[in-house]
Amino acid sequence: MSKIALIFGITGQDGSYLSKFLLKKNYVVHGVKRRSSSLNTARIDSIYQEPFVKKKKLILHYGDVSDSNSVFSIIKNTKPDEIYNFAAQSHVAVSFEIPEYTTNTDAMGTLRILEAILKINKKIKFYQAGSSEMFGKVMQIPQTEKTPFYPRSPYGVAKLYSHWITINYRESYNLFASNGILFNHESPLRGETFVTKKIVQGLCRIKFGKQKKLYLGNLYSKRDWGHAEDYVEAIWKILQVRKPDDFVICTGKQYTIKNFLDITAKKLGIILKWRGKGLNEKAYNLDNKPIVEIKKKYFRPSEVDKLVGDYTKAKKILNWKPKHNLSSLIDDMINHEINLLKNDK
Ligand code: NAP
Ligand code: GDD
Repeated sequence: MSKIALIFGITGQDGSYLSKFLLKKNYVVHGVKRRSSSLNTARIDSIYQEPFVKKKKLILHYGDVSDSNSVFSIIKNTKPDEIYNFAAQSHVAVSFEIPEYTTNTDAMGTLRILEAILKINKKIKFYQAGSSEMFGKVMQIPQTEKTPFYPRSPYGVAKLYSHWITINYRESYNLFASNGILFNHESPLRGETFVTKKIVQGLCRIKFGKQKKLYLGNLYSKRDWGHAEDYVEAIWKILQVRKPDDFVICTGKQYTIKNFLDITAKKLGIILKWRGKGLNEKAYNLDNKPIVEIKKKYFRPSEVDKLVGDYTKAKKILNWKPKHNLSSLIDDMINHEINLLKNDK
């Protein structure tokens, strides 16, 4: 018999990669999507099945984690073996602008799902999408499952609530509830306002003459970037082990935003010369035209300066390690953008 998975946040980057992964493993996948005035299902178009298809393997439901009724009835009706909670306002900078909404979704949303599991079926396994953003102003380098947390944004604080409430329900009610503590992971399907996608898309468009400049914020924060395709495999493995537990998922390698930009430009054959400092720092092309500029609006009220993880525990218990490195991640993202530009989409 096929296992049944329910994904909150199926229309996002990780939801779409995980759905494809689970369908290949012969799961029946139920996904929760939000109602929106324009279509928000582009990332799962390639696996969408029409309503008239018999024995559908991918079934979508309207719902929202801010709405307990929809959370409860979807879990009750779909009878999942496993629930993956990706639903979140996932943009750190935006969380400073809408902190209450971010908390309602990213913290309370998790509680609503856990409460529904408790009332409907305690055997359902639960994955919570935790974040390296919870480490924030890092207390230890590299960060492991034992590193103390110090979140630096409403997003990070909300995710920390979800982390602890997941552990609390595991310990109090014996639920199979596990946290992933995932470091930044990217892909061709990454949202367009995250820095990697913004850089790859911006430089590809500049290369094709479709854009003149790219505006960024802090070039000197450091991130540990992996590929979403690798990370959804780890997420699935977290629910397949004997005991519920919490795992850091990362690559163990760290780069600045500027490193990421320089590597991307080099791969595209764009020669850059950096001049100036602070808000006046600019990258010039061979014609001495500035193509990258810094804008204050992209800086955050408080920043996470450096993140780098240690995936020893995941390697030992999940037998997981990343397959992609930064170079192959950027290649994948560039190829996708260039294909779109060549087809003029
Ligand atoms: P994403 O692309 O922004 O996807 C978020 C998903 O949540 C989307 O499907 C979104 O729906 C949905 N959503 C937002 N608010 C919701 C609500 N109130 N009710 C139901 N669904 C809602 O994020 P991602 O990169 O796939 O990340 C997946 C999860 O992992 C998120 O929880 C994120 O915070 C966490 N995480 C991500 C990373 C990373 O580097 N990518 C690292 C650590 C943790 P719409 O499509 O309608 O907006
Ligand atoms: N988004 C964005 N846009 N970030 C910029 C820009 C810009 O124009 N310029 C510089 N940055 C810097 C940010 O200040 C931050 O230090 C870094 O680039 C990465 O920003 P994002 O790509 O927005 O990712 P994030 O690290 O804040 O958050 C992502 O990773 C978390 C895991 O650590 C998100 O996916 C979160 O949902 C996730 O939990």
